[in-house]
Amino acid sequence: MKGSKRLWYWLIGTNVILFGIIAYSAIAPGALTKTILLPGETSHGHYQIEMRCDVCHTEGNGIREDACLDCHAEELRLAKDTHPSSKFNDPSNADLLNVLDATNCLTCHREHVQEQTLVMGLTMPADYCYHCHQETLETRPSHADFAFDSCATAGCHNYHDNTALYENFLNKHAGEDDFLAEMVGLARSSPSPPTASQLTQIAADAPESLSGDAAILDDWASTAHAAAGVNCSGCHATEVLNESANQTTNHEADSASDEFRWSRTVSLDTCGQCHERERDTFLLGHHGMRLAQDLPAMTPAEARIPMHVDAAHRQLDCNACHSGHRFDTTYASVEACLGCHNDDHSNAFTQTSHYDVWQQELAGESPVGSGVTCATCHLPRVEDDDGNVWVQHNQNANLRPNEKMIREVCMNCHGLAFSIDALADQDLIQNCFATSPSQHIESVDLAKARFDEKQRKREARLKKK
Ligand code: HEC
Ligand code: HEC
Ligand code: HEC
Ligand code: HEC
Ligand code: HEC
Ligand code: HEC
Ligand code: HEC
Ligand code: HEC
Ligand code: HEC
Ligand code: HEC
Repeated sequence: MKGSKRLWYWLIGTNVILFGIIAYSAIAPGALTKTILLPGETSHGHYQIEMRCDVCHTEGNGIREDACLDCHAEELRLAKDTHPSSKFNDPSNADLLNVLDATNCLTCHREHVQEQTLVMGLTMPADYCYHCHQETLETRPSHADFAFDSCATAGCHNYHDNTALYENFLNKHAGEDDFLAEMVGLARSSPSPPTASQLTQIAADAPESLSGDAAILDDWASTAHAAAGVNCSGCHATEVLNESANQTTNHEADSASDEFRWSRTVSLDTCGQCHERERDTFLLGHHGMRLAQDLPAMTPAEARIPMHVDAAHRQLDCNACHSGHRFDTTYASVEACLGCHNDDHSNAFTQTSHYDVWQQELAGESPVGSGVTCATCHLPRVEDDDGNVWVQHNQNANLRPNEKMIREVCMNCHGLAFSIDALADQDLIQNCFATSPSQHIESVDLAKARFDEKQRKREARLKKK
């Protein structure tokens, strides 16, 4: 009797708790309770947004049909994806799908199965290329001795992105020096300060009670924003009450307080009004991907890679690197990063020759663009169609597979073969490229030999005629 009563209480108790959990997770979107329902740890690429089950799942816990491409289509387009679904619509290739359905992302990228997940969210053993490309090992004498699971070796082939590895490209850049004659990357094209709109401390339009901080006034007045005519209200106004406040920049500080409402904090979207590309790309990488899904900003405490303990609770928004009122890009390029990141690769950077040339650039001893910083590789300067150089703020855009860095970054200063060798060398990544590559990848040599052979045959044929 007593026993069954206890069981009864126990059943009611667990039901109440269960019901509570379900009810709470239903009314609290993004609540941590949702993660209790996860079948396993989410991958390195997605755990930051795992609370947003709905971006991938339907209500019935299936996978939304366009989930993956909604977020990744643009990236794969830029990568000139070597294996898009469209390739398998071709009847001559359709047979291959019987072995492995390459039109479904989930064939190779499952989720919440950490124990079988490799880098880049890959949940498929590395030997699957062979299923479809067996004949290559037979038709190409150069490949005859290659192991069947070696196709995707670093520096050889990728599944999606071969933009730096296709044969014509390899052949075209064969024979380049390790260190090019001119080792200079792109320079930023921010217009030199437009002196016409240069603002001084006196023209600051913050309410008097707030513009008393001499350090803020000095930082602002001596840097890019004041030079470009962006006043305090440009960032701190939440609401422009008087239309003319936008046009007049030279009015008295105290009259300004009537014209806008002051906000102490400055949102990402305020910066984004003037710096759209920087904001949009920031939201795509690990730094900004949580803000893009309306989740609280990422912090080092939640990272899976090593971070400084004293930075644990810093929020990742624009100010994380552009702190204070100087918005100093020199600080943002190295020091800011090292305030949070604490892995071997990052910590080795200041002992490399890349860092040395950066110091020389800062000292004015070598040309603008010749230095290499964390940002040179991870937030690279890129050129748009109009020839304007801007800063890519998605630090994951070229991170993996790392051959993505070759054309955009390394080849400004190094030859292709050297860049491939360096990026395929794990020890070199660990020491942040402090020494020369220890191994040589044959890709460029093989492509060159093949094109030379073709050329020889063509010439022989012409001679016969
Ligand atoms: C980035 C996309 C993504 C997010 C976010 C995500 N999932 Fe998943 N989930 C997947 C994928 C992909 C699978 C694997 C489906 C398969 O193997 O067919 C999966 C599988 C599952 C499964 C197993 C389904 C089965 O049939 O085996 C469960 C349960 C699940 N997810 C729950 C959740 C919950 C709960 C959340 C939120 C807390 C969540 N997932 C967030 C992508 C996601
Ligand atoms: C809400 C947007 C979103 C959805 C939906 C989404 N992803 Fe992602 N995914 C991201 C972001 C952001 C990253 C991290 C940044 C990066 O690596 O580009 C990422 C990372 C990845 C990575 C790892 C890349 C690396 O370098 O480690 C793979 C692979 C991937 N996603 C595949 C998928 C697949 C397959 C699906 C469908 C099940 C999917 N994603 C759904 C946004 C999304
Ligand atoms: C046959 C296996 C396979 C299928 C199917 C597949 N991938 Fe991949 N994916 C890979 C491999 C392998 C990598 C590792 C890098 C590489 O080799 O390109 C990768 C890497 C990625 C990356 C990292 C960044 C990059 O540019 O490589 C993303 C994002 C990604 N896949 C998304 C997708 C999406 C979205 C789909 C569905 C449209 C998909 N993948 C289908 C095998 C696959
Ligand atoms: C499901 C079958 C399938 C799988 C698995 C597969 N491929 Fe392919 N691959 C193809 C098809 C089909 C083509 C297109 C051939 C063509 O256009 O003639 C192709 C083309 C390529 C090309 C481009 C060749 C060119 O024309 O420049 C490369 C490189 C490549 N695959 C490498 C890989 C690697 C590396 C893997 C494993 C990571 C892999 N493939 C896995 C079917 C597959
Ligand atoms: C380019 C944008 C920008 C401009 C222009 C700007 N600020 Fe700020 N200001 C910020 C940001 C970002 C913060 C940090 C807000 C936060 O913590 O969320 C800030 C914070 C502040 C704070 C609070 C500081 C603290 O320690 O709490 C004061 C006061 C301030 N600004 C005054 C000014 C004054 C006065 C001017 C004009 C001389 C000015 N700001 C111009 C972006 C700007
Ligand atoms: C009202 C427009 C406006 C707003 C709002 C604004 N900026 Fe700017 N910002 C500019 C202009 C104009 C320049 C100078 C030209 C350039 O570099 O693009 C500039 C320059 C910069 C620079 C380069 C500084 C240098 O020394 O070269 C950084 C970094 C920057 N802004 C970051 C921010 C951040 C972060 C925010 C939000 C806290 C912000 N800006 C808000 C207009 C704005
Ligand atoms: C991870 C650090 C980091 C974060 C976070 C960051 N930036 Fe930057 N930003 C940099 C670095 C580094 C540079 C300078 C790169 C260079 O000199 O090549 C830069 C440069 C800029 C520039 C000058 C671009 C030019 O072409 O002159 C602007 C504007 C800018 N950032 C705006 C933003 C805005 C807006 C945000 C928030 C959405 C933001 N940044 C977040 C590191 C960061
Ligand atoms: C406020 C702290 C902070 C600052 C400043 C910062 N980062 Fe990060 N960074 C992070 C966190 C947190 C992550 C997410 C790590 C994760 O997802 O596990 C991250 C992720 C990254 C990644 C992607 C790692 C991966 O495995 O996908 C790269 C690359 C990176 N940061 C480079 C930089 C560079 C370069 C700078 C300076 C220009 C910088 N970071 C500044 C905190 C910071
Ligand atoms: C010469 C180019 C270069 C420079 C300079 C550089 N990195 Fe990297 N970084 C790389 C490459 C390549 C990788 C490896 C990508 C891969 O294959 O996973 C990497 C990886 C990373 C990662 C990811 C580590 C992980 O385990 O996921 C972080 C974080 C990072 N770098 C931060 C930094 C910081 C901070 C600095 C400056 C102090 C810096 N890097 C300087 C090229 C560079
Ligand atoms: C803006 C120019 C520039 C860019 C971009 C650049 N490097 Fe370098 N790199 C240099 C210079 C200069 C040196 C030092 C040469 C010297 O010591 O004389 C160097 C040295 C190196 C070394 C050390 C060589 C040795 O023998 O000690 C490696 C490895 C290396 N770079 C790899 C890379 C990789 C990989 C990338 C792309 C992710 C890259 N670099 C991007 C300019 C650059």
